[in-house]
Amino acid sequence: MLKILSEQFYREPKTPGSTGRAKRTHTALVTGVSNGIGMEFTKILAQNNYNLVLIDRDREKIELLKDDLKSNHSVRTTFLIEDLTEAETPSRIYTVLAAQNIEIDILINNAGIGAFGKFSETDWRHEANILKLNIIALTHLTKLFMKGMIERKYGKILNIASIGAFQAVPLQSVYSASKAYVLSFTEAIANELEGTGVTVTALCPGPTATGFHDAANENGKRRYIPKKMPTAKEVALHGYNAMMKGKHVSIHGIMNTILISISRLFPRKLLADLARKKMEGHLKDF
Ligand SMILES: NC(=O)c1ccc[n+]([C@@H]2O[C@H](COP(=O)([O-])OP(=O)(O)OC[C@H]3O[C@@H](n4cnc5c(N)ncnc54)[C@H](OP(=O)(O)O)[C@@H]3O)[C@@H](O)[C@H]2O)c1
Repeated sequence: MLKILSEQFYREPKTPGSTGRAKRTHTALVTGVSNGIGMEFTKILAQNNYNLVLIDRDREKIELLKDDLKSNHSVRTTFLIEDLTEAETPSRIYTVLAAQNIEIDILINNAGIGAFGKFSETDWRHEANILKLNIIALTHLTKLFMKGMIERKYGKILNIASIGAFQAVPLQSVYSASKAYVLSFTEAIANELEGTGVTVTALCPGPTATGFHDAANENGKRRYIPKKMPTAKEVALHGYNAMMKGKHVSIHGIMNTILISISRLFPRKLLADLARKKMEGHLKDF
């Protein structure tokens, strides 16, 4: 059941500037904002004077974000406490916003979860939620909000994929396959949207320093620990800029970009073998 956490707080937003920003006060919807990359997206959007619709399921963490936005930014913000793994959630969000005449100009499908381990050993309920969140909710929200954007001839959608979208990743099979879907889906509709005034971008980050790795560790005994990771803020800023430029696909990090370009020359089986070795090197049992 959808609940609106707070009364919208509203102070007159500043008129966005002329440096590629919106000409009127546009509204951005972001999913998965209580942590990590999603939280950084909300701060960047608030700094750029976008009104916000923020979706997450964690009430306590949302309260902290609410206080931060209230004290530091003058934008209109609506918080919806929702679990995006529930099938009816995207329609409910759409209906509630339509009833309040809130039009979405920017949609950032950020919420996503993963799982580590052999597919024969991982938990099905968790993996079903990966599919529901990373694929179904993302696709449904895109369909619901894209139509209004096309009618208004303006809109930007950012779907968060991963560098794991470009190849099979053993020990992360369902997650990497879900991100391969996000990448393929986004590229296809980016093509369909050409000339409409609406763009859609797939952001492909590599491992990033967020709570994602702990959340993916459903049995509490295995952690993914790469040596060095970019911050959520760096990745969000990169994604924001790529979305504003209307890029179809944007990989974060020069090394990731080079490796993915080179990898296209190698057999897919070899790439899966290499990914398996890398995963085994990073996954530590506790
Ligand atoms: N971190 C990485 O290494 C990495 C690399 C490539 C791509 N990505 C992608 O980047 C995106 C953001 O991940 P992150 O690294 O910032 O992870 P994170 O810190 O774990 O944040 C994920 C956010 O999604 C929310 N969320 C999870 N399940 C939800 C649900 N059922 N309904 C609504 N919200 C839900 C979480 O809220 P709760 O507090 O309620 O759990 C949290 O706010 C994901 O799509 C992820 O796949 C991450």
